[in-house]
Amino acid sequence: MCGIIGYIGKQKAAAIILEGLKRLEYRGYDSAGIALLQDGHFEVAKKAGRVEGLIKGTGAQKLAGTTGIGHTRWATHGGVTDANAHPHISSDGRIALIHNGVIENYAHIKKFLLTKGFTFKSETDTEALCNLIAYHYQKEPAAPDSSRFLESVRKTLRHIEGTYGIAVLCTDCPAEIVAARKGSPLILGVGDGEYMLASDVSAIISRTQNVVYLKDGEIVHMTAKNFSITTLGAEDVSPVVDTITWKIEDSELNGYAHFMEKEIFEQPAALENTMRGRFSEDGSTAQFGGLNVSAVDLRQVDRFHFLACGSAWHACLVAEHLIERFARVPVEVDYASEFRYRNMPLGNGTLFFTVSQSGETIDTLAALREAKRKGYKVLAIANVVGSTIAREADGGVYQHVGPEIGVASTKAFTSQLLVGAMLALYLGRMRDMSFSDGVEYVKALKGAPDLVRQALEAAPQIKAIAQRYAHYHDFLFLGRLALFPVALEGALKLKEISYIHAEGYPAAEMKHGPIALISEQCPSVFFVPSGEMFNKVVSSMQEIKARKGKIIAIATASCDLPAGLADEVIRIPECHEAVLPIVATVPVQLLSYYIAEELKRDVDKPRNLAKSVTVE
Ligand code: M6R
Repeated sequence: MCGIIGYIGKQKAAAIILEGLKRLEYRGYDSAGIALLQDGHFEVAKKAGRVEGLIKGTGAQKLAGTTGIGHTRWATHGGVTDANAHPHISSDGRIALIHNGVIENYAHIKKFLLTKGFTFKSETDTEALCNLIAYHYQKEPAAPDSSRFLESVRKTLRHIEGTYGIAVLCTDCPAEIVAARKGSPLILGVGDGEYMLASDVSAIISRTQNVVYLKDGEIVHMTAKNFSITTLGAEDVSPVVDTITWKIEDSELNGYAHFMEKEIFEQPAALENTMRGRFSEDGSTAQFGGLNVSAVDLRQVDRFHFLACGSAWHACLVAEHLIERFARVPVEVDYASEFRYRNMPLGNGTLFFTVSQSGETIDTLAALREAKRKGYKVLAIANVVGSTIAREADGGVYQHVGPEIGVASTKAFTSQLLVGAMLALYLGRMRDMSFSDGVEYVKALKGAPDLVRQALEAAPQIKAIAQRYAHYHDFLFLGRLALFPVALEGALKLKEISYIHAEGYPAAEMKHGPIALISEQCPSVFFVPSGEMFNKVVSSMQEIKARKGKIIAIATASCDLPAGLADEVIRIPECHEAVLPIVATVPVQLLSYYIAEELKRDVDKPRNLAKSVTVE
């Protein structure tokens, strides 16, 4: 959470930083602020609320200077106030700092600094970090300003417990920025006569496609002409400059009202990109270039253990179902946040997978590290190339769906479902799945983008349903087998962007408690597949109907629903069971989106949330 950006070069920094902040705003939008260095002093503008409010309310875009930093905040320590907004300035006025992360030992540092005469204006943990840099800077008056600045940051960070991505300015060093990271993402953009820092590539992609992914414990010292990277132990690091493949258009609305809407409709193309080049020549299985585990070793795995949070966790539950069904290997799925504190017995033949769109979710990263610390190989399914999880994993699969900017995950989720389905195929073909079953499975996966296109055609019907149902305060989402996690995902989507209470359950579990919620005031969304589960799901629907509950059925094309049972029927095409969860997700994404739109919610930036959860 929190987005940070820095610029040093020949251009006016304010416009560039504010533009970057707008692109980073999905990471947190409680407050925004910028600081520029101008004639040996700081020009600062900061304000609670959105970047737009900062611009309108403070005239931040008019600030002069070619070196500066900016921040968009997701509040942790201290309320949503102007005073708690970043950048923070040290009480001696020499240091300005922006921070993404949590300083766990800030209270101790603050107590110490108060004894040294430093004062505090905010309730944040960050201000302690800022003042501690100023303290170390003051302690070395004899050293040249530039090295003194860098060393004061280095010394400070050695005392810090917690996580940080920071960028720091010093009034004595008018054309320099020092930045560092531990546990929070930070990249350096290498432009033409300019350098930039940002929490992610979307903020800088309009100016450069060349980036250095900084690693934990690294400090970058930038001037307008060059940069150097060292470690906390002052060892030199040789930078590796990577090229970003995302284009600026990928992170623009292109005529859509919201990123969520755009990303829902991008799903056919996103799925095509996820599967491109990943089927064997004989068309009977999947292939993955970057797993870094040989077929022989994969054959020895007797349990897969998936770790993730939020929607990615739902995707893992679907993968569990498909891998167990088609590859006959047991699968465990844990919330990453729980796994890291559990001490469960783990077998020797376990292979871990972490799943994360952003590749920066702190709980997933910590779980990855915990599994590696225990001596296990950990693979990652991630979307953001160069993200921390992708880099720290032993191998894995990139999703290749382009930037996902809406806070509610859509195309990244269905792409994770696809990768899970492809893994089930790959692992299944190594075991008992026949050649012809493999060929049929591959054909089905290749057809998924078209089936999603067909599912999207129901958008006008779903919009009309959303308008009729937007005033309800509670919803149940009910599905069975691999559609149960899709029910969880439907409930999560509705909750997070419309603020309507919703719960997902396996349809048959409803009788064990949730049915008590049913009345005319609590509609149920049922996933109704044809095949062996059809009659069972219809029975559950009857039980709801008998209690006057309204029913929205998302039913595959050939389901012959009893007349009058469902109040609304949304049809999706018939599909292979590995593809069904992907196609069935589309109507619930659209339903949530249109309900939120009807309620005039801030769809892409729902309250209290941030896209990438980088604090515990
Ligand atoms: O970037 P990640 O996939 O690790 O994010 C995990 C969750 O934070 C994320 O899926 C979250 O639940 C979304 N807001 C769901 O729409």
